[in-house]
Amino acid sequence: MRPELQLALDNPDLLSALSTLALVHREIDVIEVGTPLALAEGVHALRIIRASYPEHTILADVRIVKAGGIIAGLMFDAGADRVSVLAEASPETLKSVIREARKAGGEVQIELGESLDTAQARRWRNQGVRQLIFHRSREVEPLGGAAWGEDDLERVRELTELGFEVTVTGGITPEELPLFRGVPVFAFIAGRGIREAPDPLAAARKFREGIQSIRGGSGSSRENPAEGEGR
Ligand code: 5RP
Ligand code: MG
Repeated sequence: MRPELQLALDNPDLLSALSTLALVHREIDVIEVGTPLALAEGVHALRIIRASYPEHTILADVRIVKAGGIIAGLMFDAGADRVSVLAEASPETLKSVIREARKAGGEVQIELGESLDTAQARRWRNQGVRQLIFHRSREVEPLGGAAWGEDDLERVRELTELGFEVTVTGGITPEELPLFRGVPVFAFIAGRGIREAPDPLAAARKFREGIQSIRGGSGSSRENPAEGEGR
């Protein structure tokens, strides 16, 4: 069910990531092995999380910029369904990531930079990339610091019209979700908004309810076996 709720595990170690997951896994659709966790614990973290949560979709947020084939291959072999690549990666790097994704039946997510080159986005689409990550540039601000503006929302609409599934992220709080009513978001990524909440489960439920209310339908709790699985 869309939009998906993705939990970014930007933890410094696997143990703390697993504790958060144990609390909230029923409320989320996608587990993100965040960049800090991937750097701190490597593919080992991915393997353990895949083995522990076989039903969830997993994104390895490894932000590939070089050595695309090797890194993507490692991630897919360890159980990732999706890998992230920076928009700045060369066409050759992107091509090798796409090749690995096809072999594994996985997806490539390109994380956009500050500016959007529509011609380049069209080339990505023609190469078979379906998913983009739109990262709010104010991520350096405290959680919920600067509001998502109409320009940001318009960007999401524009990219969707180009044929992409657009994931949004960057300090999102449940209180901001109503801003996205009527905006075709594919997935919301929440990191600090869940992990650093005094009660992560209550926070994840708040995100889930917020997503449900902007969609106007029923939720996709992992307790509902009728929902599609990531793998
Ligand atoms: C930062 C990231 C984070 O994983 C993403 O922004 C979600 O975290 P938060 O909700 O804490 O901003 O990739 O570059
Ligand atoms: Mg991330």
